[in-house]
Amino acid sequence: MYSIKKITGDLTWVGANDRRLAMFEGVYSVPDGVSYNSYLLHDEKTVLFDTVDKSVHQRFLENLDAALQGRKLDYLVVHHMEPDHSASVVELTVKYPEMKIVCNEKILTLIKQFEYFDMDSRVCLVTENDTLDTGRHTLHFIMAPMVHWPEVMVTYDSTDKVLFSADAFGCFGALNGALFSDEVDFNRDYMDEARRYYANIVGKYGPQVEALLDKTSALDIKMICPLHGFLWRKNLGDILSKYALWSSYTPETDGVMIAYASVYGNTENAAEILACRLREKGVKTVMYDVSVTPASDIISAAFKWSHLVFASTTYNAGIFVAMEAVITDLAEHNIQNRTVAIIENGSWAPTSGELIRGKLSECRDITFLEKKISLMSSLKFEQLAEIDEMADALAATLPKQAIAAPDGSVKAEELPPPPAEVDPTTAFKFSYGLFVLTARDGDKDNGCIINTAIQITEKPFRISIAVNKANFTCDMISKTGEFNVSILAESAPFKVFQQFGFQSGRDADKFEGCGYNTRTANGIMYLPENTTGIISGKVKDAYDYGTHMLFIADVTQAFVLSAEMSVTYQYYFAHIKPKPPAPKEKKAGYVCRICGYVHEGEELPEDFICPLCKHGAEDFEKL
Ligand code: FEO
Repeated sequence: MYSIKKITGDLTWVGANDRRLAMFEGVYSVPDGVSYNSYLLHDEKTVLFDTVDKSVHQRFLENLDAALQGRKLDYLVVHHMEPDHSASVVELTVKYPEMKIVCNEKILTLIKQFEYFDMDSRVCLVTENDTLDTGRHTLHFIMAPMVHWPEVMVTYDSTDKVLFSADAFGCFGALNGALFSDEVDFNRDYMDEARRYYANIVGKYGPQVEALLDKTSALDIKMICPLHGFLWRKNLGDILSKYALWSSYTPETDGVMIAYASVYGNTENAAEILACRLREKGVKTVMYDVSVTPASDIISAAFKWSHLVFASTTYNAGIFVAMEAVITDLAEHNIQNRTVAIIENGSWAPTSGELIRGKLSECRDITFLEKKISLMSSLKFEQLAEIDEMADALAATLPKQAIAAPDGSVKAEELPPPPAEVDPTTAFKFSYGLFVLTARDGDKDNGCIINTAIQITEKPFRISIAVNKANFTCDMISKTGEFNVSILAESAPFKVFQQFGFQSGRDADKFEGCGYNTRTANGIMYLPENTTGIISGKVKDAYDYGTHMLFIADVTQAFVLSAEMSVTYQYYFAHIKPKPPAPKEKKAGYVCRICGYVHEGEELPEDFICPLCKHGAEDFEKL
């Protein structure tokens, strides 16, 4: 019996889950199973995106058959020829003899390698930016070599704005009835598995992942459909910002991961004492016994934490076997940009420390603590000072804000007196909402992003908005005395903020190609999607406060559009706005605190205006 899920009007998930698999790729434990995602697009032509692993082939065929609803299959797009996604290719060519296979040259080579038969006659070869029209939908093909294999490509459906991302943005874990990341608590329950998947499957290929992120950054993406795990249709910034960190080998968390190998518990003891000393200093720590914790979890943790301590006994004149596997794996996964400390142990010739250092020295931007700790069988009382020194040295290289008060509290008498001057960043602590403010002057529709709409009185229903006078919308409201406030929802994609916030209505039509023409009784546009409510205002009073106009307005129309949560300024920064990847080399320059634009150079002109978000020099800070 089939088990399929509708994604959009035209798109259906026809993949399958495997919860019996012990080791994915024979290496990675998957205690919560794994999903093999395959997608069927119904258009004038039918298009299948990838197939599945042979373990779930039968269920997949039933699913596909049901989703096709009696139609034939016109196209199979193969993004990745790894057998967990291509096991059913041959059978489909038999079952659907007219089906064309859409792939690139490298994929075709691999099809022939894996399947031993010639399919040249049924292949449509594509290269970078080629397109395929299937009726209502236009598919754009984007090459993504080494994300995870050299032949990989992804597809962007510009009609529904869906990215079929192959292995990118995948996650271990079977789909448990839910299909979308917003149907579960992804950050709490799945982000660790997404990181473990990323680090182990594509962690080695950070620059290639960055190249794919670069290529797709200009696309208006509303949904991401990966080959494993949940699909993304909300809060895409959550996963995009993680990918920006992971692909640039930027640690997510300032703190210390301690991985140890200990045959009789003495190396473990030294590691435990170090962890205690670090915690006493307020440093976050995690510990792993490499003989117990699977290597893939430790690789994943190494991609998360900023500081790594390896404590290993010496074994057969080398590194203890389980630790050697982890260190080799880590070096092969291209770990970079970490601070590393080493504790070695040995009863007659401790050598593991130098050997670990030697292996990790091949990685880029690894800073070793100069002094390693060398134990002879066990930690001696007089060596406690060395543990203290190591804890001090690790804490000293962490940023101050990463170090908590040891007991988790701050004593009142230790608090510095509050500064007398005004810190403008305190304003970021306000719990602002975010809104699209729209106006109409003659035939001209326009809008901008504001965070300053609030209710003043209930009877009469009256609100205030403050608008930057540099915004064209401000001029329009001053002239017409009318506006709409579209209250943005948490589902609002970054594109909305780019559309209304990062360009000027003086030289752009912000509603061009928006696909809607929704107006309130005052004739002004409002946003029908990604909004929770709409308020129309008629200006009663206007006050000029230098840079901004404050408008007090009577509410003339108001209605609720959805039960979703309205977005806040903090939510936007945490979940929606993609965080720019850390610059590779530290260059002289200034970064915009509003949108992350970097102006390179020693000087920032006083009258500089950010080309992206139009904020002035006062909103830039030195890199
Ligand atoms: Fe799930 Fe690289 O394949």
